[in-house]
Amino acid sequence: MRMNNKAYKFTQNPFRCAMVEFHPHTIKYVKKGHPWVTEDSFTKRFPQKAHFLKGTKEKSPTSFGVFIHDPNHPKVKARLWSYASPETWGRSAFEEELLSRLIISIEKRIPKIQADIKTPIHEIRENFYLVFGESDSLPGLKIQVLSPGKVLIQYYSNFWTHFQKELLSKLSYAFKRFFPEWKEKGVDIFIQTRSQNKSIPLQKKSLSTFPKGDGKLSFLSKEFDINYQIHLGQTYDFGLYTDMSPFRSSIKEFITPDSSVLNLFSYTGAFSLFALKFGSKDVHSVDLSPKYMKWLEHNMELNPAIDSSCHHSKVSSAMNSLSGYESDNKKFNLIICDPPSTSSDGNKRSKAINSYHQLLPSMLNLLEDKGRIVLFLNTHNITFKKFFGEIESQLKLHIKSKTHKLQKLKSDNWDSPSKKGFPEGDYLKAILISPL
Ligand SMILES: C[S@@+](CC[C@H](N)C(=O)[O-])C[C@H]1O[C@@H](n2cnc3c(N)ncnc32)[C@H](O)[C@@H]1O
Repeated sequence: MRMNNKAYKFTQNPFRCAMVEFHPHTIKYVKKGHPWVTEDSFTKRFPQKAHFLKGTKEKSPTSFGVFIHDPNHPKVKARLWSYASPETWGRSAFEEELLSRLIISIEKRIPKIQADIKTPIHEIRENFYLVFGESDSLPGLKIQVLSPGKVLIQYYSNFWTHFQKELLSKLSYAFKRFFPEWKEKGVDIFIQTRSQNKSIPLQKKSLSTFPKGDGKLSFLSKEFDINYQIHLGQTYDFGLYTDMSPFRSSIKEFITPDSSVLNLFSYTGAFSLFALKFGSKDVHSVDLSPKYMKWLEHNMELNPAIDSSCHHSKVSSAMNSLSGYESDNKKFNLIICDPPSTSSDGNKRSKAINSYHQLLPSMLNLLEDKGRIVLFLNTHNITFKKFFGEIESQLKLHIKSKTHKLQKLKSDNWDSPSKKGFPEGDYLKAILISPL
């Protein structure tokens, strides 16, 4: 039952749905819970103009699943929308389902968003995800609140650019229901398309049920009672990683007034400010970028209650800074290390996992007897098991007697959950090295 493009009949125009044949491997993976159809010889025959695909097996007249189609994505050509494949799949069924998924996704986060007076400060934040893509059955779509009424939508699938009007209309409805208080200051919606290799300018939109916000791209966000400067612009880095927030909260228990903290790859300083806010009197931030270090220092100024004399910044490669601290015989109680997935120290590029071969021995040298290290890896290409195994064998090389243990750093990622069977969504990994 091979079909060529001409043989397709679109069910409705411009809501275009086509029956297509999937590679047997795709069917196997989808059945196991993986929600993506990646580029292969079969995807090349998918009709370019179809927005939705119904998958079929070779020679089978019945279809399984509805998929959203993204012919222009470099790798992920379609994403699972539903296992069910109704005969009459059309615009109204899609729109109804979209609204219901948005509401479910937001509603389940509400108890955490509306923290009550008993909620500890290190769990309260203005920045949180309302929709986390595949984990919320809204594939290729992430929506996060950066501060009240400032909302960032990220398209990881170009599909959403064709259904933006529908998405914004459903969001208008959902926000009116869940965030009526935003009426006062108004709402700004910012849209980033992250599904293509080229950079696409940020779009600014408003919602029909709310007045427009002030439209500013620079504004403040409060995470755990700490102010951060957000700047939305040309790049995807706007100053605060919301997916790292749960990890910040989870290191609170390691911070005391006596703990010296080293924050390697500090970016705009979120871990450093967190450590200072929650009691550390000696925090060191290291980043290669003078621009981000300036941003960090600006963030410090935005928080007069934080004692900036307890903070030391170093514009340097992580490796050079470690050598410097070693020469000075400096010791730390907590070292946080969050390298980018590939990083350059000005000379050569290295992958985060490889950089640990060099960084870990020095970090261990700098550790107080009862000190802890938190290591992050931000890539879906390496499983947690592999990361753990790698760090475990390096640790064995460098620590002869068994003085430390390794474990997964647990975090309450209520707003950025992972999805079973979907490793691509589980990109952030954290290991805690602690004394026995
Ligand atoms: C993933 S971000 C860290 C995010 C941070 N942990 C947070 O939660 O806000 C990586 C940072 O590493 C910096 N960087 C890249 N290569 C570096 C190197 N070789 N040495 C030090 N910093 C580096 C970048 O400038 C960037 O700010």
